[in-house]
Amino acid sequence: MGVTRVHRIPAIALAAALALSATACGQEAKGGSRYRPGGTGGGTIGIAMPTKSSERWIADGRNMARQFEAKGYTADLQYGDDKVENQVAQLENMIAKGHRLLVVAAIDGSALTDVLRRAKEAGIRVISYDRLILGTPNVDYYASFDNERVGRLQGQYIVDALHLDEEKDDKFSIELFAGSPDDNNTKYFWSGAMAVLKPYFDRGQLTVRSGQRKMNQATTLRWDGGTAQKRMDDLLSKNYGDARVDAVLSPYDGISIGVISALKSVGYGSADKPFPVVTGQDAELASIKSIRAGQQTQTVYKDTRKLARQAVRMADAVLHRKKPKVNDTTTYDNGSRVIPAFLLDPVSIDRKNTELLVEEGYFKAGELK
Ligand code: GAL
Repeated sequence: MGVTRVHRIPAIALAAALALSATACGQEAKGGSRYRPGGTGGGTIGIAMPTKSSERWIADGRNMARQFEAKGYTADLQYGDDKVENQVAQLENMIAKGHRLLVVAAIDGSALTDVLRRAKEAGIRVISYDRLILGTPNVDYYASFDNERVGRLQGQYIVDALHLDEEKDDKFSIELFAGSPDDNNTKYFWSGAMAVLKPYFDRGQLTVRSGQRKMNQATTLRWDGGTAQKRMDDLLSKNYGDARVDAVLSPYDGISIGVISALKSVGYGSADKPFPVVTGQDAELASIKSIRAGQQTQTVYKDTRKLARQAVRMADAVLHRKKPKVNDTTTYDNGSRVIPAFLLDPVSIDRKNTELLVEEGYFKAGELK
């Protein structure tokens, strides 16, 4: 016990400093990123998000903070800048302050075992947000999208766009990208896409010229677009020469944008050399604009407002000692136990249906111009 305390002091001091700096630069999370020690009414909810480098996480955090506050809680919203040690320190800090519940989108799904043990000891409940936290029993519920289906939508889009079922003799080349190796979602996106694409690889209709067909050859640490761009530069220069790549499986819009930059740098995007089919995920504004401009081909829309609502509902139920509604009690085994989950439905978006995002109020019409 004494040892634990000695070790915790510096972590807490660091976390407090981080909390303050996150508040100072958290302006865009309007009404969300407020640091209010103590809290009022329903108590304080700690919201630990991975990064502000992607607009979706900014929206997720802001939406949850607003919704918690509407229910009478105080929200302590923190971003980890994609650094595991920041996120751990932020969680330590939330536990030290006696927050009632933690909602966590993990940077590294396997790195939170110790800190969540301390949450458990302090009687603090935990909801895993979008990404499953692994290797610990101390996760109460999981709110996410059907991650396997996200991958299937991406794979099926490629099959349809290349008309693989109609033109069975046509052959195409494809390169494959996967998400961050420390994010549990990565394997679901990959396996969903591969379940759809495998028969076409087996029939020889699709070929990966680089030979990099395994997930661990295709991962992109922290989902970084620059890393993906470098890998795509490399794949193109080493394997394509005069040949063209017809499709790129990308699991996330930030990766797609990096891939498209690499494609442009070797002349794709002209009448002679049109862009390949490039998938994506998250319906980020840059990608929706890219889709409308005929560059990226597809993305998967996951309404972060709905996910936030789901997590807030779960948290509120838990804090009122009720059982939250779940719709999946078998899929998400985190290595310690199966975490009851509520999974939402993802929607495929391409040039033909970007207007849906405006109709649903996800973007304003003017933003897509
Ligand atoms: C995943 C998430 C995706 C995407 C990606 C990169 O965990 O499910 O929607 O946001 O992280 O941020």
